[in-house]
Amino acid sequence: MSARGGAPEPAAPRGAAVLSVTDVSKSFRRGVLRRRRTDVLKGASMEVRPGELVGLVGENGSGKSVLMKIVVGLLARDGGEVGRTGTLGYCPQEPLLWEKLTVGEHFELFARAYGLADDAATGAEELLLDELEFSRYRGYRVEELSGGTRQKLNLALALMHEPALLLLDEPYAGFDWETYVHFWEMAERRRERGMAILVVSHLLTERERLTRVFTLRDGRMVSE
Ligand SMILES: Nc1ncnc2c1ncn2[C@@H]1O[C@H](COP(=O)(O)OP(=O)(O)OP(=O)(O)O)[C@@H](O)[C@H]1O
Ligand SMILES: [Mg+2]
Repeated sequence: MSARGGAPEPAAPRGAAVLSVTDVSKSFRRGVLRRRRTDVLKGASMEVRPGELVGLVGENGSGKSVLMKIVVGLLARDGGEVGRTGTLGYCPQEPLLWEKLTVGEHFELFARAYGLADDAATGAEELLLDELEFSRYRGYRVEELSGGTRQKLNLALALMHEPALLLLDEPYAGFDWETYVHFWEMAERRRERGMAILVVSHLLTERERLTRVFTLRDGRMVSE
């Protein structure tokens, strides 16, 4: 890899893959009679190992979000295999939040869903509110938040349980510049601790932070 602009060298990936995607295919049927078929994925393969920050790129509509939803289990695949080990965190492209609940109540709800002990939950919440600089919104309901702050909460909830594998679908859409920079620093710190991270990205200005990049083109993966 060429000049890294002073960023620390990514550690060599360690351990067995926490995510392996092999030959995954997915089609959708459209139209009133559902006669028209779109083949979105036609045998896509990739893998992510602990301590890797892997980029997933591709044009709009190339199937990045569909692939992530298949990995998470929100969509069924038509063919191929998905292997996953360890805990999972997923930050969807469209924030999935409850309008009437406050930021703090979201943390409580997710802490319970993840089965976190009280101390761990409080620690994670404080750390993330601080890292993403939105502590002052703790008592705000989601309906009162700006788009960027909703995205911060969406991201924080995906990683509050320190998952082994973190899937991020354009988590920084709507972030201001400073938050965008913080986001990459946060991802880097977690990767250094051994988290495996797959991040959908269009902007490869942060290319030097990525250990690997997979590009979806015509339903298949082209690796750099
Ligand atoms: N539930 C669905 N039903 C039918 N077609 C779908 C569905 N979800 C996605 N598609 C189609 O699958 C293709 C890939 O969509 P996807 O959302 O994965 O693209 P993407 O690579 O994430 O694009 P973007 O960069 O715009 O987020 C698109 O043609 C889309 O219309
Ligand atoms: Mg998408």
